[in-house]
Amino acid sequence: MASSAPKLIAGNWKMNGVKADLAEVETLVQALGNLAPDCIVAVCPPATLLQQVSAKSGKGTIKTGGQDCHVAEKGAFTGDIGAAMLRDAGASYVIVGHSERRTLHAETDGMVKAKARAALDARLTPIICVGETQRERENGVAVTVVEQQLNGSTPALKAGETMVIAYEPVWAIGTGLVPSLEDIAEMHGAIRDWLGRHVGEAGAQVSILYGGSMKPDNARAILAIDDVDGGLIGGASLKVEEFLSIIRAA
Ligand code: PGA
Repeated sequence: MASSAPKLIAGNWKMNGVKADLAEVETLVQALGNLAPDCIVAVCPPATLLQQVSAKSGKGTIKTGGQDCHVAEKGAFTGDIGAAMLRDAGASYVIVGHSERRTLHAETDGMVKAKARAALDARLTPIICVGETQRERENGVAVTVVEQQLNGSTPALKAGETMVIAYEPVWAIGTGLVPSLEDIAEMHGAIRDWLGRHVGEAGAQVSILYGGSMKPDNARAILAIDDVDGGLIGGASLKVEEFLSIIRAA
C-alpha cells in the first residue's frame, strides 16, 4: 500500500522539564520559523508545562502532545489526566502505550486501545507505541509481537479520524542501541502491510514513526527508509540543537 502519511518528528520529554526550560521551546520555535521544515514538529512535555509550551507554539509552528491519558473523560481518578484536559491545554497529540507505561504501570494492549479511543473522542491524535523486547528480537519473533500489539492496541477508526504508530524497540529506548536499517525497514514494512489489512484506505494516512536512540548521527539514514514517516525522540529532544538537527534530517 502506498502511503501518503504526513512526516512527523515528535519529542517525548518524559519526566523532564521545568519552567526554566521553556526558553528552549522559544529557541526551537524561532529556529523552525527560519527553517520552515516540511514535516510536522511536536513536543510532548510533562503535563505541568503543556499549556505553557502550547502558548509558545508560534501560531502552530510546533504542535504539542501529552504523554499519557486516562480512558475516562473525567471523574474520581486521583493523579490522572483525561484526554479532553490535554486538548484544553492545547495538545493535538497524546502518546499512549509507551513501553515505560506498559512496563512500569502494567498497561495492557486493551488499556492502550481504550486510551487511544479516549484520545480520538477528545479530537486528539493518539501516538500508539509498540515494540519488542531484546529477548523477542533474539528469538526472531519481533514482527509477530508487534503485530499482536497492533491487533490489541489500536482502536477502529471512524471517518475523519487518524492515528500515529510509533515503532519503539524496548531495548533501543535510552540505550544508544538501534536496530539495523534492514530490521527497521522490515518492521515498518510489516506495520504498513498490517495497516493495509486492518485499517484499509485510512491506513495510508497513518504515519509510522521510529523511536529508540534516534540521534543526529543516525537520523538521516533511519528517516530515509521507506515507510519511516518520522521519529519519536526521547533524550535528543531535550537538547534543542540535537532536536533541530534531527528535524533538518527529516
Ligand atoms: P530515546 O527515547 O530517544 O531516549 O531512546 C525514545 C522514547 O522513549 O520515545
